[in-house]
Amino acid sequence: MKVDGRPYRTIWPADDGRTVVVIDQRLLPHRFETIELRSLADAEVAIRDMAVRGAPLIGATAAYGMALGMVEDSSDEGLARAGEVLIASRPTAVNLAWAVRTVQQILRPLAPAERVERAYAEASRIAEDDVESCAAIGRHGADILEKLWKGGEPLQVLTHCNAGWLATVDWGTALSPIYAAHERGVPIHVWVDETRPRNQGAALTAWELASHGVPHTLIVDNAGGHLMRQGRVDACIVGSDRVAANGDVCNKIGTYLKALAAHDNGVPFYAAMPHSTIDFDLAHGDLIPIEEREAREVTHISGRAADGTVTEVLLAPEATPGANFAFDVTPARLVTALITERGVCEASAEGLAGLYPERAGKA
Ligand code: MRU
Repeated sequence: MKVDGRPYRTIWPADDGRTVVVIDQRLLPHRFETIELRSLADAEVAIRDMAVRGAPLIGATAAYGMALGMVEDSSDEGLARAGEVLIASRPTAVNLAWAVRTVQQILRPLAPAERVERAYAEASRIAEDDVESCAAIGRHGADILEKLWKGGEPLQVLTHCNAGWLATVDWGTALSPIYAAHERGVPIHVWVDETRPRNQGAALTAWELASHGVPHTLIVDNAGGHLMRQGRVDACIVGSDRVAANGDVCNKIGTYLKALAAHDNGVPFYAAMPHSTIDFDLAHGDLIPIEEREAREVTHISGRAADGTVTEVLLAPEATPGANFAFDVTPARLVTALITERGVCEASAEGLAGLYPERAGKA
């Protein structure tokens, strides 16, 4: 995708072939800046503090984090330790553990001296695979959107959180079909949920859509049900942090409520994800670990003042405790279909087995 006319991905190796560069997403939409990751610890902190976020990008960062870890210590102990450090950084998006295990599996049979180069090559392969997967998700999802458009008025699509190119290596998952349909000439307007507490919708999705020229409107998280009752939403599309073997979809907190409202109003509800987000080892969504982040993200909010300074302010009485559940699970029965790089399937064990026969049946 392009920023100020220049093509960008969300993660790339620097010219020295060792340092890894990422966009500092904590500063958007106010400032576009990059950070250099030079160590395993840098990668771990970037994931934990959400300089990078979004399941597929967390996975790609973890893969490069393994490579940075190998530069520091490529012994068997170093290989195991790097994986433990990275996997502990955020619990919900399975892409993280998937990327770590993929790299570990490739490196384990190799001599320590061979591991650094191979780790970078594998991280780069994982990043490329994500770009291809997300582009394919865009094509499959755009076919659905094209069919839903009845001609005339723009198609009204609601999305939650940010599942755009910033959340992946490029293109995005939920936003990829929107970009592809927009390119095909399907008129689309996107309702963007602000996505409290960290406001990925307001800060990131709105910024992405604006940069790409896709018409959109920011709404508070609770507006979706009202709009659906009024017949002003034709489809919902969200991303996912982990899909269980039965098709249950874990995604940013609030997704479940959107799916309930969509179900009650006959609005199709799609979840889009690459293969790396599907966890065939977990039988159902209630087994997915739900990240709980610090209460300060709920009790405080930050924004840019007229003079350009970014300030954090307290929203609640000082002594009021906050609880910050970062994700929820939408039962498969509320999901119209899953959109993957291999095509579209029912959100069910059978649907997933049809697309991924070589991986199904493990839970
Ligand atoms: O906490 P975040 O910002 O990492 O959460 C991101 C989401 O919930 C996305 O919807 C999900 O990772 C899918 S990203 C393509």
